[in-house]
Amino acid sequence: KQPVVIKGLGFHVPERILTNQDLERIVDTSDEWITTRSGIKTRHVVSEGESLSDLTHGASLKALADAEVSPEAITHILVATFSAENMIPSAACTLQDRLGLRGRMAQDISAACTGFLYALETARGLLALHPEAKILICSGDVVTSRVNWEDRGTCVLFGDGCGAAVVMLDDGGPRRAVVRDVALASDGALGDLLTVKGGGSGTIYKLGDPVGEEYFVQMQGREVFKHAVRSMTNISRNLLKKHELTSDDVDVLLPHQANLRIIEAVGKKLAIPNERVFVNVDKYGNTSAASVPIALAEAVHDGTLAPGRRALLTAFGGGFTWGAALLDT
Ligand code: ACO
Repeated sequence: KQPVVIKGLGFHVPERILTNQDLERIVDTSDEWITTRSGIKTRHVVSEGESLSDLTHGASLKALADAEVSPEAITHILVATFSAENMIPSAACTLQDRLGLRGRMAQDISAACTGFLYALETARGLLALHPEAKILICSGDVVTSRVNWEDRGTCVLFGDGCGAAVVMLDDGGPRRAVVRDVALASDGALGDLLTVKGGGSGTIYKLGDPVGEEYFVQMQGREVFKHAVRSMTNISRNLLKKHELTSDDVDVLLPHQANLRIIEAVGKKLAIPNERVFVNVDKYGNTSAASVPIALAEAVHDGTLAPGRRALLTAFGGGFTWGAALLDT
């Protein structure tokens, strides 16, 4: 049986950078508070007129070039996001149009920060049905479109970006990683701990109604923190166990980049030392669905995930959703 491979990877972030010092001028916060609580120093933020499809398009072109696959060869487009430009059309259809790939299946996946792993599992399913498929995954968010810049408890944590991957069955040629397994989970009973409610059909607006706080990311930070650590640790442990592996077999732990304290707590619980834990949350903040594929692309391209290494990916997000994946590079 041919394994599923990630043929190429790329990512795109907006040029504009907001530093902690910039945020000190917007809300009552400090570089010291943000750094010690989250590890974040800068985040990339869209400029006026820049939208999710600029990010998905930019990331796609880089992943396709990295994979040496022509856009025309793509058969399916999956976009994991909670921040499509519109309710209709989907982010996947908007991207499909920008790539000029008329006629392909194009589908959005809503799993917040776990979106990339949900899309990867969906791609594995599609490849079981269509072995010849070449699937483009884009996983990204314009989180700042739904950030309340008056709420210091949330606005300092997020940034915008998109990661992309070309996924197909192994053709014997060069590839970035073999997808060994993916594990996913969810618990909607805990959904109210992290929400973006406004804009959904559960919140009815009449013409002229102002938007309220429900329009923005709302989060009970401490609760989210606890569940994030517990869920990522447990699903990662179970996935390793299923494959009769231990933490010693993991060369690089690549967790969702939400917060340095969460990342370090997961590493500690899994007994994976800090030097084997990939961190870029300092540069990008929490980019939601983009966090894992941006980290993966950086780790592959900077040699952290050189050929012959094994990576354990894990993510947690609103829903709640969470997951883990084992990749061999
Ligand atoms: N600057 C200065 N002070 C602040 C700020 C800020 N930006 N934000 C909050 N504070 C204050 C609070 O008002 C509070 O003050 P008080 O004690 O006078 O009431 C104090 O700091 C402590 O606030 P807490 O919320 O209790 O701080 P905590 O140590 O829990 O850190 C944080 C907050 C960083 C949000 C943390 O809970 C966390 O990281 N949670 C997880 C959040 C997360 O990562 N979510 C996303 C994961 S899932 C996904 O990615 C979708």
